[in-house]
Amino acid sequence: MIRTFLLAALALGAASAPASAPALADDLVAKGEYLTRAADCAGCHTVPGSPMYAGGRAFTLPMGTVHAPNITPDPKTGIGGYTDEEWLKALQKGVARDGRHLYPAMPYASYTKMSREDALAIKAYLFSLKPVETVPTPAATMKFPYDQRWGLAFWNMVNAPNTRLEPDSAKSAAWNRGAYLVEALGHCGECHTPRNFMQGLKDAKAFAGANQQGWLAYNLSSDKQAGLGGWSDEQLASYLSTGQAPGRGPASGPMAEVIQYSLRYLTQDDIKAMVAYLRDRPAQPDGPPAVQGVPKAVALSASSGDSPGAHLYNQACAGCHLPDGKGRQSPWAALGGSHSTGDVNGTNLVQVLAHGSQMETAQGLVFMHSFTGGYSDRELAAIANYTISQMSGRQGQVTPQQIGAARGTDAHKPTDPPPQVAGLK
Ligand code: HEC
Ligand code: HEC
Ligand code: HEC
Repeated sequence: MIRTFLLAALALGAASAPASAPALADDLVAKGEYLTRAADCAGCHTVPGSPMYAGGRAFTLPMGTVHAPNITPDPKTGIGGYTDEEWLKALQKGVARDGRHLYPAMPYASYTKMSREDALAIKAYLFSLKPVETVPTPAATMKFPYDQRWGLAFWNMVNAPNTRLEPDSAKSAAWNRGAYLVEALGHCGECHTPRNFMQGLKDAKAFAGANQQGWLAYNLSSDKQAGLGGWSDEQLASYLSTGQAPGRGPASGPMAEVIQYSLRYLTQDDIKAMVAYLRDRPAQPDGPPAVQGVPKAVALSASSGDSPGAHLYNQACAGCHLPDGKGRQSPWAALGGSHSTGDVNGTNLVQVLAHGSQMETAQGLVFMHSFTGGYSDRELAAIANYTISQMSGRQGQVTPQQIGAARGTDAHKPTDPPPQVAGLK
């Protein structure tokens, strides 16, 4: 850095050199790092255990599979060749440097709302990283007609208008900042908003909740039953910045990744801004009702205590979650009030039993392993239904078939050999 400064000073003539030139470049990189995290580029462009941003992760969509490429500044296999204008075209119009239309698995339909300045700060940060050379990204394998990338030009006309987010002068500065963080950078709707028949986001159903690769990304609207209407501001801020909230349970699966790579790095002011904006989303009634209030530790009745589900829960789960779900030692193991324990279909509960979940936090790694190894489908269904009744007082409907399907068909089983990892050179 000192060398850069000296060179800059020499080039400009010592007398007129702005002493802050290198500091300005550092500021841009630091700003870019914050924005890159807020936009969660790592969440998709990093394979756990491989270098950050080196790509290789597979996305399996109904129409085929596409891999996220290397976005380190390697000139051959990464983004090293991108000019500023090419970069803006990729983030705002979904068109890569070589003219290829990108599949909207790359959330440019949200990033297009980002300012030019912020998009270029992200580029400056990524270009400051060490280049990593990888094997070429595997070609996308899409079914006809989705394999025709040019067709996306029409998709874009309807689903990804190339426009920046305009501030709403009738709203507070915090609300506007929150809107920018949620809509443009955080691309929350890409998981939490249902999609239309073209796989575009249904604006009329914004934040109504959606199925996301087998997980339910819950309703984030202000609806009191299905959405966040019953949450306090403190609960919401805690969940977003730490991945758990007293009386609301932990974030697992895809949301744990969003917290780990992105939201836990945001300032408290930015978290509050997101809360202000989310509070104001029009109510949508869709999805399983949330658990209202911290449930009283449901007393083990004689019959529930003797049921196979209760027996198995006490054997397999109570060690970390305690019999009443209050959690042992770690606040991330407290299940009371968790939306997932109130969903009688057990969608996310089955996912967490079948695949486990983990999240890096400021206090270290929190971890739940999968349970498919030691328990039958029937046993896991009994555990799931017992957990639902114990934590929410509702009658669980989880079937052994559902466990079998989650255990058998998911492409992202942690135990699979890693075909989704494009090997590093
Ligand atoms: C939800 C997952 C996801 C997120 C988040 C994401 N990307 Fe991507 N990105 C992808 C996928 C998948 C592709 C490949 C799309 C294709 O091949 O059509 C891609 C492609 C790209 C490309 C094209 C590179 C090339 O020339 O082939 C760039 C550039 C890029 N992403 C940058 C970013 C940046 C910068 C961020 C954060 C601001 C980001 N991505 C966040 C999934 C994601
Ligand atoms: C990759 C998909 C994905 C993205 C992107 C995403 N979420 Fe989530 N979100 C989920 C899933 C899945 C869950 C359910 C997690 C669980 O069961 O623990 C969830 C849960 C939540 C919850 C808890 C809701 C409840 O009722 O328990 C909140 C709040 C939330 N997300 C906010 C956000 C915000 C704000 C953003 C944008 C910054 C965001 N999410 C981006 C997938 C996502
Ligand atoms: C080794 C300790 C441990 C054991 C054993 C364990 N869990 Fe967990 N569980 C956790 C932790 C930690 C989390 C939070 C994970 C995260 O945030 O990624 C969690 C998360 C959950 C969630 C929240 C899901 C959501 O959507 O957010 C449920 C429900 C759950 N566990 C149920 C169970 C059941 C049922 C069992 C027994 C079969 C069990 N757990 C066994 C530690 C454990």
